[in-house]
Amino acid sequence: MTVLVTGGAGYIGSHMVWELLDAGESVVVLDRLSTGFEWAVAPEAKLVVGDVADEDLVGSIIRDNKVDAIIHFAGSIVVPESVADPLAYYENNTSKTRTLIETAVREGVPHFIFSSTAAVYGGAGLEPVREDARLAPESPYGLSKLMSEWMLRDAGLAHDIRYTALRYFNVAGADPKGRTGQSTPGATHLIKVACETALGKRPFMQVFGTDYPTPDGTCMRDYIHVSDLAAAHRLALQRLRAGGPSLVANCGYSHGYSVLEVIESVRRAFGRDFEVKMGARRPGDAAAVVANSDLARAELGWTPQRDDLDQIVADALAWERILTGKNSARG
Ligand code: UFG
Repeated sequence: MTVLVTGGAGYIGSHMVWELLDAGESVVVLDRLSTGFEWAVAPEAKLVVGDVADEDLVGSIIRDNKVDAIIHFAGSIVVPESVADPLAYYENNTSKTRTLIETAVREGVPHFIFSSTAAVYGGAGLEPVREDARLAPESPYGLSKLMSEWMLRDAGLAHDIRYTALRYFNVAGADPKGRTGQSTPGATHLIKVACETALGKRPFMQVFGTDYPTPDGTCMRDYIHVSDLAAAHRLALQRLRAGGPSLVANCGYSHGYSVLEVIESVRRAFGRDFEVKMGARRPGDAAAVVANSDLARAELGWTPQRDDLDQIVADALAWERILTGKNSARG
């Protein structure tokens, strides 16, 4: 039995590959390397460079490797980009996922795990959001993922395929062993931006909005360590293989931190100050987005091991330093 990880050269996917290999699984990665990196793929995994919508290629990967599960990370993830070019998102995320599901059904792959997002919910309030909350994505990115969830639901009803869709909250941090991390240039995510600023890769950073209805006026998010997220996928795989029914579940820690708390944590980890400017709100940001993760804990038996902002930040900063070395070595 082999697990096919699409997008396995990307940020979350490359952590997933290590998680699976560490658990003794056989892994094949399918990645176009459009935003991922060949070096991010663990050497013990087989890498195939190609597209998830290439039915012949995916079919032969499934047959040649006896794939019994697909974990599908490949996709586009930049919310403002999806607003500017929605059709590209519906093509790359929704349409290609449709083709991948079809191939999985045709080849008889029984298990499918899908990378979904908190962006499927409407503007969240300060309360932790449950899976049965109103679904009202505010961007084509969120909708492109929600449509994929719905296709899986319907395919699961019609065919012999069971799935788990995990809705990620704010994924951050890096492999505690320093084997992989968030490496995409031009990052917009808060913890990565703060680490880059601390290390002098940016002259300063900005806090986007200080007048939100939150305790310190800055936005609150549920930051989840990427290794805990990968563990949730591994548990989802075990559950599907044991015959568990399809599931849609949030992945977060069920509590949030403000932008200022995150920056303080980066200052603590770095041990020195760096320049932070208070700025205007960023269009489209909700005041608070926090998961209710009771379902994942109950159904997957998921107990987060790294629910600690300082640890998330320390691992992100350590990776940022490793990345500096890699990039300068490459000239
Ligand atoms: N922020 C700053 N300064 C920065 C970067 C971010 O103040 O330089 C703030 C943002 O305004 C926001 C918070 O930090 O309040 C977190 O922002 P991120 O960009 O790190 O993350 P988002 O919450 O915007 O995005 C996350 C996921 C997306 C997902 C989106 C919607 O990373 O993949 O939630 O659910 F689509």
